[in-house]
Amino acid sequence: MRSMYKKKEITEDMRNRASELLSQMTLDEKIGMIHGNGIFATRGVKRLNIPPLVMSDGPMGVRADFYPDRLDRIDDNTDFATYLPCGSALASTWNRDLAYMLGQTLGREARGRGKDVILAPAVNIKRSPLCGRNHEYFSEDPYLTAELACEEISAIQESDVAACVKHFAANNQESNRFEVDTVVDGESLERIYFPAFKAAVGCAGVYTIMGAYNKLNGEYCCHNDELLRQKLREEWGFEGVVISDWGATHNTYKAAGSELDIEMDISSDFDDYYMAEPLKKKIESGEIAEAEIDKKVYHILLLMLRLNMLDGAERNRGDFGSAENRLSCLNIARESIILLKNENILPLSKDKAKKVLVIGENADRKHSEGGESAEIKALYEYTPLAGIRMLLGGNSRVDHLLGYSSKGDIKLEELRLPKAVKKTIKSGNSKSPQSMSLKEKRRLLREEVLANLKDYDQVIFVGGLNRKGGYDCEGSDRKNMELPYEQSKLLEELLEKRPDTVVVMMAGSSVSMEKFADKTRALIWSYYAGMEGGRALAEVIYGDVNPSGKLAETLYKKLEQCSAHSLGDFGEGERVEYREGLLVGYRYTEKKGIMPGYPFGFGLSYTDFEYRNPFVDLNEGYISCDIHNTGDRNGKETVQLYVMNDQNKENEPVKELVGFEKVFLIAGEEKEVKIYPREIIKGRKYLFASSSRDIELILEIESDSGECNENNSEFMG
Ligand code: BGC
Repeated sequence: MRSMYKKKEITEDMRNRASELLSQMTLDEKIGMIHGNGIFATRGVKRLNIPPLVMSDGPMGVRADFYPDRLDRIDDNTDFATYLPCGSALASTWNRDLAYMLGQTLGREARGRGKDVILAPAVNIKRSPLCGRNHEYFSEDPYLTAELACEEISAIQESDVAACVKHFAANNQESNRFEVDTVVDGESLERIYFPAFKAAVGCAGVYTIMGAYNKLNGEYCCHNDELLRQKLREEWGFEGVVISDWGATHNTYKAAGSELDIEMDISSDFDDYYMAEPLKKKIESGEIAEAEIDKKVYHILLLMLRLNMLDGAERNRGDFGSAENRLSCLNIARESIILLKNENILPLSKDKAKKVLVIGENADRKHSEGGESAEIKALYEYTPLAGIRMLLGGNSRVDHLLGYSSKGDIKLEELRLPKAVKKTIKSGNSKSPQSMSLKEKRRLLREEVLANLKDYDQVIFVGGLNRKGGYDCEGSDRKNMELPYEQSKLLEELLEKRPDTVVVMMAGSSVSMEKFADKTRALIWSYYAGMEGGRALAEVIYGDVNPSGKLAETLYKKLEQCSAHSLGDFGEGERVEYREGLLVGYRYTEKKGIMPGYPFGFGLSYTDFEYRNPFVDLNEGYISCDIHNTGDRNGKETVQLYVMNDQNKENEPVKELVGFEKVFLIAGEEKEVKIYPREIIKGRKYLFASSSRDIELILEIESDSGECNENNSEFMG
């Protein structure tokens, strides 16, 4: 955590001005400011030169503009935006500077498009791989999430735009999302689900926060007194604006009395919102005191003053779709891609790339438009296929075959099938293409791939999920971890014939790779990496970029390895109990000795790093080690520091991330890396884990002195 974020504090002048304005407002004017008077805006007060507060999604860039009174896009060609890498991609960079860069870009874009509040970042913990919005979220780890979110938030707000950290709180599934009662114990809230929000408030000074749809321990988050008043306002000292998720308010009386400031929804009956006419009536009848809404309006006015929206203050103008913003996307995408396995295949040689076969729907699919509220009307999006073609240039022939398809509209007549197969289709020995089932069509897609493989020098498969309908999309969760559209079958057959195939998985969290994991020799993981994602991926595959992404979540082999499913509840029920407590992600797998597919923090490089000399300086408050790039390529490593917990406590995680630094080392270079955890606890062990997971350095801090015992253990993880 940077010790100093550029925070804009609320001044006495601001308080006075807010009170003065408030005192001049009529009840109607106040009511207009505390609920949506458009799908993404409140009402201003013209008479007092108070503009409406204009909001927009979201975490992956500024969403297209909508008609004020309905959730339909205007589509007038003025709102193409920079499509940023998703939250999980950002988290995989483990790079604070890039989180800051993403925030700056998002802030500039939002301001450039005339927004006051950008509904981002989304910092919920990835509790289960099935959650449809996982790709928007950062990580299963609260510390990593908090660190990066604070960077992003403080950078967004530099542009006089409010970040809106969401969804508060414990909103970790889409199933039954409007009603589900999430039951979580206090300690797990404090240590797993709250830290990113708490840091957003306390460290980054976030201006707004979005109350989640779900109930938390029996009460809807948007009227939850314990959550909003006791925790957020009183304990964390939040003076910003609490905005409801769209349709997350349920009761006029409770909403008025709670710490919710603005009610938003997706329906156009704005006057009927709980905090609109119904509230006005209750105030007029004396059932609710006007003072309840005064404090809401006061928060909103303070926000407007902080954003330079009032009194003709000079305000940042932002920009959007600029070259600089696009370059940020490329830089972030480059460091987000994770190399999971490489048995002497990668990087591929450009010289040998005369004929390249790229397989898979995701190789040529644009993902910007998926994901519902995180959708982006992108200025452009380079797919992996485009990226590879751009990188190799015209002298390489790069062909694309689908191999699998999510849709039924497969043009069988265009398939490059062996003559004999074509003949049977034509002669009617086989069913007519029109009457073929999707399953049969998919078999033909596989046959096409297998029939053509031998003609190519290099084969690259790009598959996974697709940010649409049930697979990484808001509003629903996956049913299981299976790879859809018979991709596993294709991969099994493909790898049998071409074990040198480079396999790229693109998804928001774990997909089952069991059927082909052992057969692959080169495996790359990419999240939805924004408009430049395809280009960045090609650069990694061909070695222009040395991969440095590390997993910000555990990739499970199967669902039972995830505690939300083996210990807790997940899914459609009315109540979802988080019985796993603190044991989320690696905190669970390590406790139970489960070997996941790939562990949290893992990621390979085209070079090697050695770790030496762990050292603690209690006076300065750091723990350090020397890191050496022993390979022949420049590269970046993420040095990860974990604290080891008391192993005798049943529900205590074995270890927890307490610090990290991403460092660049040229080939042969050695550097000392200092990590400053929030506290160094005497009597505890600390552990450096290399991201290839083949080195661990354990350092024991004596309980009675500043000395430390060093215990180097090397193992293959
Ligand atoms: C989502 C929010 C989003 C809002 C506005 C809701 O359905 O949960 O994340 O910001 O819609 O589009």
